[in-house]
Amino acid sequence: MYTTEVDINSIICGDCYEELHDLPSDSVDLVVTSPPYFQQREYAGGEGIGNEKNIDEYVFNLVKIFRQCVRVVKPTGTIVFNVGDKYINGSLMLVPYRFALGVQQLKLVKLVNELTWVKLNPTPKQDQRKLISSTEPFFIFAKSNDYYFNREAFLEYKDKYCNGNKKMPGNDLGKKYYELINNSELTTEQKRLAVKELDAVIADVRNGTLDSFRMKIKGIHALPYGGQAGGRLTQINTKGFTIIKIYGNSLKRDVIESTVESIKGNIHPAVYPEFIVQEIIKMLTKEGDVVLDPFLGSGTTAVVAKRMKRNYIGIEIHPDYVAYAEQRLTETPSTYSCELFV
Ligand SMILES: C[S@@+](CC[C@H](N)C(=O)[O-])C[C@H]1O[C@@H](n2cnc3c(N)ncnc32)[C@H](O)[C@@H]1O
Repeated sequence: MYTTEVDINSIICGDCYEELHDLPSDSVDLVVTSPPYFQQREYAGGEGIGNEKNIDEYVFNLVKIFRQCVRVVKPTGTIVFNVGDKYINGSLMLVPYRFALGVQQLKLVKLVNELTWVKLNPTPKQDQRKLISSTEPFFIFAKSNDYYFNREAFLEYKDKYCNGNKKMPGNDLGKKYYELINNSELTTEQKRLAVKELDAVIADVRNGTLDSFRMKIKGIHALPYGGQAGGRLTQINTKGFTIIKIYGNSLKRDVIESTVESIKGNIHPAVYPEFIVQEIIKMLTKEGDVVLDPFLGSGTTAVVAKRMKRNYIGIEIHPDYVAYAEQRLTETPSTYSCELFV
């Protein structure tokens, strides 16, 4: 049963596998979701995904739902699944990777990245013979090579994640390199050029354009291996030095740090961080795009989407969580006008 009209900016209460069939094909820009862990938590009522008897059945059900997500996503769209692991008899079950391999076998999407969430406040475990699990993957899948990807938008909150934690450079910034240049085997002309470029790069660090830098000087530092013509090795051989510029957050890594969220009064036991959802939405959508979460829980995805002037569709099996998510949404401001999703 396929309908052509679905209200956007609404939450559907029901089983996502069934409800996804009512969404038109190629109509959603981003799916971002966190399905229940395998046999991990008792959500209100104990129904739904996660209560299967074995992992194969759990992965089979997840992949079935994933397949529907692929259908509803536009060719330029992406699908992000956050899947948690599970210990059974003291051994990790590699649940996220079983899921990712199951998806790969569909041959419908490309796995673009495994974004690792580093939990800054992981739950301490009693087992003294294991390290504390403190990471979880967010798998980013694309439906085609033409997927929307605004890499620059990812983790751009420099105040909090870069400059805020950075010490101001001291007066001795680069002092070591001036000494090394002076004592090096470079010719006078090479030394003059090296000092000139070093002055410029230090000025960039001081005015905040650059995060930091490294310098390699002929006869002093180990030479880089291989590389292309015009690369670092060539520069060292011709100029006698090379300067490696480091641009802080513009080095967009597949890692994101965040605390495990606990929102005061939230009735849901497994909320994922608004910050991570925000960074994913920023990178993978534009204003006015449609974001779908088939396991909406307490509504985090919809709340962030609304705040960021994106449209949302949520599906959640438990009416209590639907009601709670709706309440969160009424308290979330957005200046974007809602339209009908046809
Ligand atoms: C890990 S929680 C999602 C939490 C959410 N990300 C948040 O921040 O609140 C997974 C949710 O999926 C719901 N669920 C389980 N099986 C479902 C199904 N078949 N269809 C829709 N929702 C389901 C559970 O009730 C639970 O609220």
